[in-house]
Amino acid sequence: MSHLSEAFTRALEQVVGSAGLIQDPERMNSYLSDWRNAYRGKAALVVRPASTAEVAEVVRLCREASVALVPQGGNTGLCGGSIPDDSGTQVVLSLTRMSAIRAIDVANETITVEAGVILQRLQEAATEVGRLFPLSLGAEGSCTVGGNMATNAGGTAVLRYGNMRDLTLGLEVVLADGRVWDGLRGLRKDNTGYDLKHLFIGSEGTLGIITAAVLKLFPAVHSLTTAWVALPSPQAAVDLIGRMRTLCGDRLTGFELMSRQSVEFVLQHVTGCNDPFNEVHPWYVLIELSDTLVNANLAQMLEDGLGEALAQGEALDAVVASNDAQVAALWALREGISEAQNHEGPSLKHDISVPVSSIPAFIEATDRKLKDAFPGVRIVAYGHVGDGNLHYNISKPVGTGDVPFKAHADAIMHVIYDATIAFAGSISAEHGLGQAKREAAQHYKGAVELELMRTLKQALDPVGLMNPGKLL
Ligand code: FAD
Ligand code: MLT
Ligand code: ZN
Repeated sequence: MSHLSEAFTRALEQVVGSAGLIQDPERMNSYLSDWRNAYRGKAALVVRPASTAEVAEVVRLCREASVALVPQGGNTGLCGGSIPDDSGTQVVLSLTRMSAIRAIDVANETITVEAGVILQRLQEAATEVGRLFPLSLGAEGSCTVGGNMATNAGGTAVLRYGNMRDLTLGLEVVLADGRVWDGLRGLRKDNTGYDLKHLFIGSEGTLGIITAAVLKLFPAVHSLTTAWVALPSPQAAVDLIGRMRTLCGDRLTGFELMSRQSVEFVLQHVTGCNDPFNEVHPWYVLIELSDTLVNANLAQMLEDGLGEALAQGEALDAVVASNDAQVAALWALREGISEAQNHEGPSLKHDISVPVSSIPAFIEATDRKLKDAFPGVRIVAYGHVGDGNLHYNISKPVGTGDVPFKAHADAIMHVIYDATIAFAGSISAEHGLGQAKREAAQHYKGAVELELMRTLKQALDPVGLMNPGKLL
């Protein structure tokens, strides 16, 4: 039963048409919980505008009626940012009908897309004109460009190309009062004062609704080599990435670290995945080299680097993929971790970053503290080690129930975040704060930083109707 007045709902329907309004509880269901079912909320209704003008009018009507809005893209976020609270008074604003690719300027190497474009479709559109859009992550088949920008998404190619912030040149945003800011400029140089787009990138829907963006394109990749390497320790991974950077420079486009525990979950729970080695090893990295040249001799470069690493004891074993199917099989071992961990009960996710050089000491110190304080917990450590970004996720001890395990969630989190801060790191590397880390951010971020963030929130959303209860 909606908490909103008939007149308000009718006014919304006039803007978006009946196709743009969902009130039926069953049809609303998929908008009210996240991919893992870790967060569930209620909403008065779901509104699906199909243009920037419609978004602006919806926001204006909500402002007039003091109704809070929760922007939503593909709903793949991992911090509950796109899920309404349980009051049943909020409106979910889904951008998925805004899925047009508005323009491609090959000479300028830019693409202009609406917020609801699925990341994979954007990658394909770039490929169709002989260019690359490099953002790549496990949820790319369903996450949207708007969600990628609102969370400043990272993924597996940040090492070479940067995160969403680095890939964005211009933005179009519907502000909290319904005005449209047209910042859709495809310029690599524009020093005309404060760079406003950076306020909205990473703001998780709390400052405005992103409706479109101008994004950077890059030359297409024509040569690719992928290897799966067994290692004795995280220190070996840091040494190996240094070696590969020296040898290959920017051709090193992927360097993903995984503990044995992470890979073991994938082998157990994801059908079709096999261990590339006969022996069990404590750590693995997936290395990807790529080049825009058609016949770049990447295999030789990889062989040289791995040969040296094996001789030094930095690497224990290695396989190099020899066809596309093998490349896909190696990436499946990496990309399957998130899903596989769900089969082992709740995953306490800690998406942290520390300087790359501190990764080994961070893992050693934090593993020890956790194992002492919570015997039997299973540490699923993996991630984008070239960015200093670890997914230091925790699964319950074998034989423990979900409820008693979750009772330790806060204590576990504090052990991990205290260590992160001690190593000069961040408690959210790429997933954002959403509702999951809102309180933790209040504890771990500096007072001045928090005050500046509140000042910005107050300036851009004085009434507090943009995704309340998230981030701040
Ligand atoms: P949603 O989940 O719908 O929303 C995320 C946040 O953005 C919410 O706060 C929402 O309110 C806000 N928002 C959405 N659209 C808009 C808009 N148009 N305007 C304003 N605010 C908006 N993330 C990474 O960074 N790197 C990874 O490697 C990675 N791997 C993942 C793997 C898996 C299997 C899964 C499920 C998720 C992964 N993620 C990763 C997290 C997630 O996919 C990304 O955060 C993604 O960018 C979210 O996009 P979305 O469209 O699903 O956003
Ligand atoms: C990934 O890189 O696989 C995700 O960002 C991590 C996660 O699901 O925790
Ligand atoms: Zn990640």
